[in-house]
Parts: sequence; structure tokens; C-alpha cells
Amino acid sequence: MKGTRIIHPLWLRLTHWFNALAVIVLVLSGWRIYNASPIFPFRIPDGLTLGGWLGGALLWHFAAMWLLVLNGVAYLALNLLSGRLRQRFLPLRPGEMVADFLAALSGRLAHADPSRYNAVQKLAYLFVMLDSIVIVVSGLVVWKSVQFPHLRELLGGFDSARVVHFFAMAALVGFFLVHIVMVALVPRTLVLMTRGR
Ligand code: HEM
Repeated sequence: MKGTRIIHPLWLRLTHWFNALAVIVLVLSGWRIYNASPIFPFRIPDGLTLGGWLGGALLWHFAAMWLLVLNGVAYLALNLLSGRLRQRFLPLRPGEMVADFLAALSGRLAHADPSRYNAVQKLAYLFVMLDSIVIVVSGLVVWKSVQFPHLRELLGGFDSARVVHFFAMAALVGFFLVHIVMVALVPRTLVLMTRGR
């Protein structure tokens, strides 16, 4: 029946909100860790950070890291095994992406069918999935650089892994800000991501 159809299964809603919690804690504590040894000529205002000091921030960061990784593996595995990843996010056609992007800019992007993502959403969500993998891999190198020499070399060494980790974080924050604006513009999607229908 219309309106009672499950659009987002329970496992998806749970993993989405656990992921949001993990990302928020990781970003805020990560900014505090960054401030202890900035790689660029700026610091993040302390009021925007979590942990109080380097040691406290590291505890938050490592705790949330496990949540991000375990929850992320569950999300990807369930998405792949259920066939949902292919069904919801593929195919990704360049022509549709351009058309939907232009429609979004002029405020004419259709949201009539909540069970389908438009091409811009598909691209953004696939991008943030890949970006999260880059964040985890570069974070692993920064954390256990000696234990993962091949990964470290792949990223161009320890210092460059820190830069990769930083820019992957910046891209994720960029996604997050646009994501929040889009949710505010189409609040119905928030009900769906909470109640599932
Ligand atoms: C508190 C902040 C957040 C809110 C309110 C929020 C809200 C939402 C909503 C309403 C949707 C459904 C969109 C639709 O049906 O058109 C969604 C989907 C999604 N969000 Fe978020 N989100 C938040 C944080 C995040 C974060 C931090 C990430 C990743 C870094 C994220 C990644 C995603 C992804 C990948 C999807 C698609 C999920 C799928 O269908 O598999 N969200 N979000």
C-alpha cells in the first residue's frame, strides 16, 4: 500500500545513524588531534573540537574508529549481498549526472519516487563510500605506519598519508554539509531514513 512500503530497511537505517555518529565524533576529535601538530598554517578553533586535549581526543578517535569500521563493513556487506548496491546506485550514466546536476542547480530536481536515488545522489553516495575507505586506509597508515609498510609506501610515506587523511576528511565534511542542506530542502527523506516508510 502507498505510504506503508518499506523504503529503507532497518539494517540500513541503523548503519546510517551509527555511521553519522561515528563520523561526527571522528571529525571533531580529529580536529583536536590535528591541532596538536598542524600540517598546514592554521589551527581549528578549540571550541569546534572534541576531547579537551590530545590524549582525550585520541581516546574518542580510536573508539569511534572501531564503530566506523565495523558498522561500515556491515553496511557494505549487506548492501552487496542483498544486491541493493547495484540496484540503488548503478548504473551511473554521465548524461544523467549532467542533466540531474543542472536540474538541481535550478531547483527542478524531481524527488517524486523516494525508492530511487537521482544520478547526483548516486554519485555523492558512492563517492562518500570510497572516500570513507580512503580515510580508513590512510588512518591505518598514520596510526600503525611501521606495521603497514606497503600501505605506507602506496600513500607516499607517513607525511603524505597524513595529508591524504586530511583531504579525505575535508571531502567528507564537504559531503556532510551539502547532505544536511539537501535533507533540510527535502525533509520527507529524513522521515524515511528514520521510520523506513
Ligand atoms: C546527522 C546527520 C545526517 C543526516 C540528518 C542524514 C540524513 C540522511 C537522509 C535523510 C538520507 C536519505 C536520503 C534520501 O532518501 O534521499 C541519507 C542517506 C545517506 N546518508 Fe546521511 N545523514 C546524516 C549524516 C551522514 C553522514 C555523516 C554520512 C557519511 C559520511 C551519510 C551518508 C549517507 C549515505 C551514504 C546515504 C545513502 C544510504 C543508502 O541508501 O545506502 N549521512 N542521509
